Amino acid sequence: MKIITSVRKMQAWADQRRSNGRCIALVPTMGALHAGHDALVRAALSSADDVIVSIFVNPTQFGPREDFDAYPRHFDEDLEILGKLSSGLTVFAPGVEEMYPEGVQADRISVDVGDMNRYLCGPFRQGHFEGVATVVLKLFHACRPHVAVFGLKDAQQFVILSRLAREMLLDVSVVGVPTVRAADGLAFSSRNVYLSPVQRKAAVVVSQAVHGAEEAIKKGEQRREALVEIMRSILCREDEARVQYADVVDADTLQPIEKISPGQHVLAAVAVHFGSTRLIDSVFTQAPAGQRVEKYDEGS
Ligand code: PAJ
Repeated sequence: MKIITSVRKMQAWADQRRSNGRCIALVPTMGALHAGHDALVRAALSSADDVIVSIFVNPTQFGPREDFDAYPRHFDEDLEILGKLSSGLTVFAPGVEEMYPEGVQADRISVDVGDMNRYLCGPFRQGHFEGVATVVLKLFHACRPHVAVFGLKDAQQFVILSRLAREMLLDVSVVGVPTVRAADGLAFSSRNVYLSPVQRKAAVVVSQAVHGAEEAIKKGEQRREALVEIMRSILCREDEARVQYADVVDADTLQPIEKISPGQHVLAAVAVHFGSTRLIDSVFTQAPAGQRVEKYDEGS
């Protein structure tokens, strides 16, 4: 496995591969790899000749009271996991000074994500999505991929990055991979290690809530208020769960929807605290098309 830590060397490597006609896929990560990341790397391996996995804990996407210093860093274990997936991977693991040569505080330029930070996680994580969009744009410039693979688990991030590529005319196809879950439904996350055994058990309500909303939408429920209530009532089954938000938004713009239109693509999403650990989950789904929408009855 090849490990590259400098932006210049990464660009030279990518240019050389590109000039040989090779298709490059990039999987951006912050390390602490788990089964969710594995699925992204597998998808990348099946869609490109060369796969770059970047491992970079990006300081600009963490708020001042968030876990940047405590974020799990397991570089050696990560390399072992990647080695088992394919010995031909390239790992891009730059230091902060490579990605922010002016210094993190001194950068004057960043990506503005418009009103897409006004909904879901945005109001609770000031500056987070600007930090994500900025570092992903830098990673694209460093790795020069044809394809970039992201998880649908971080749904708002995925929608914003898809639009970043589209609106900024980037020559990169953004691919989304379905959320990988443990047997009880909890989405794999690098932050699950913070959960106590009791919290881990209780956390099953997070996926149940978004799947409850999905089922109701499929059965024809169109009202935001009713869907929010379904999600909140499932989350409230566990005393440990403190709901930060539960909402339904348009899957392309992230705007809240009071009433879902037939055939509309929507995203049902929640953020929930268990102690100081914040978990998110979501489902992309489509409302039934056409006139004959069966009336949703919660008891059915
Ligand atoms: P990180 O949290 O390490 O996640 C890296 C990628 O793995 C993201 O695209 C995320 O959506 C995906 N992922 C995480 N858990 C998943 C799961 N259970 N199933 C499927 N995919 C999953 O997301 C980031 O890093 C950063 O914000 C990053 C994009 C790297 C920018 O710094």
